[in-house]
Amino acid sequence: MTRISDNPYVPRKAVLLSRKELSPTCTLYRFRGEGRGPFSFTPGQFLLLTVPGVGEAPFSISSAPSEDGTFEFCIKRVGRVTDHLHRSAREGDVFGIRGPYGRGFPVEEMKGKDVLFIAGGIGYAPLRSVLLHLLKERESVGQISFLYGVNTPVELIFRDEVREQAEAGTVHYWISLMEGDLDDFPAPWSRGLVTDFIPRVPADPENAIALLVGPPVMYRTAVEKLFEKGFREENIFLSLERRMECGIGKCGHCAIGYRYTCVHGPVFPYFEAITLTEAI
Ligand SMILES: Cc1cc2nc3c(=O)[nH]c(=O)nc-3n(C[C@H](O)[C@H](O)[C@H](O)COP(=O)(O)OP(=O)(O)OC[C@H]3O[C@@H](n4cnc5c(N)ncnc54)[C@H](O)[C@@H]3O)c2cc1C
Ligand code: FES
Repeated sequence: MTRISDNPYVPRKAVLLSRKELSPTCTLYRFRGEGRGPFSFTPGQFLLLTVPGVGEAPFSISSAPSEDGTFEFCIKRVGRVTDHLHRSAREGDVFGIRGPYGRGFPVEEMKGKDVLFIAGGIGYAPLRSVLLHLLKERESVGQISFLYGVNTPVELIFRDEVREQAEAGTVHYWISLMEGDLDDFPAPWSRGLVTDFIPRVPADPENAIALLVGPPVMYRTAVEKLFEKGFREENIFLSLERRMECGIGKCGHCAIGYRYTCVHGPVFPYFEAITLTEAI
């Protein structure tokens, strides 16, 4: 007999601990997962969040793995579920979560290597989980470079953290904007595409890993420039998002080519992503 707790479609409880506006459209939500043993995950994995009476949607975990069962989502308001969260979610409210699901970033492989992050817009959110994890043991990796592209300054999420890390010199940031200025910011910035910075990054391509999260158009240019710089395809990892329903490889909604992004992704090594029809 299947017990209710063995049913992968039954969510466990998660209590909203706090929320913080990061930009006019993005909010950071901090939750604590309850019941069913310890809550562990790999940066890059996602959870399905149920908003009771409204619906369920997948979100990448944006915080580093922690011992206390807490985790964060950075959520952009785009439709039904996200709009409800932004308008109505309050501290103490109870939601449902399923997961963590999917394949995350290869954090063990990063040890002793330079790490180059490339984020477009809200792509910063899942990469922040990896970054905060690496910063817990900063000496375990070489140089950390972070190329971060947004359209306008107001879309720069986690601005205080970025400022702090840039000032401390623990992370070398380069920020690109399509319009506006970033005066008095402790990191180089310029107008243009985030990928314009790739040739200038000091990472040693022989001993570096590149992690990319952003729109597919960013991937095409980024990968081209990483190859020109000498990166090998097995050292490039990117996240592919598709609409999801079940999150566990049953419904087929998230298929790309012969892979399900909920199970085989969302993080793929480049050499695998390139074999998937129309993935990039
Ligand atoms: C693995 C994974 C991780 C994700 N992580 C995050 C995250 O960290 N933060 C975040 O804000 N969002 C994330 N998303 C996207 C998020 O799941 C969607 O924005 C959410 O499902 C929208 O739900 P909704 O009910 O508010 O919008 P809906 O009312 O369902 O749709 C509103 C609009 O959003 C579009 N949309 C819905 N889902 C997606 C999707 N997966 N990709 C692109 N467009 C979509 C629809 O086409 C429609 O135009 C992630 C998606 C996946 C698959
Ligand atoms: S979401 Fe159902 S198979 Fe991936």
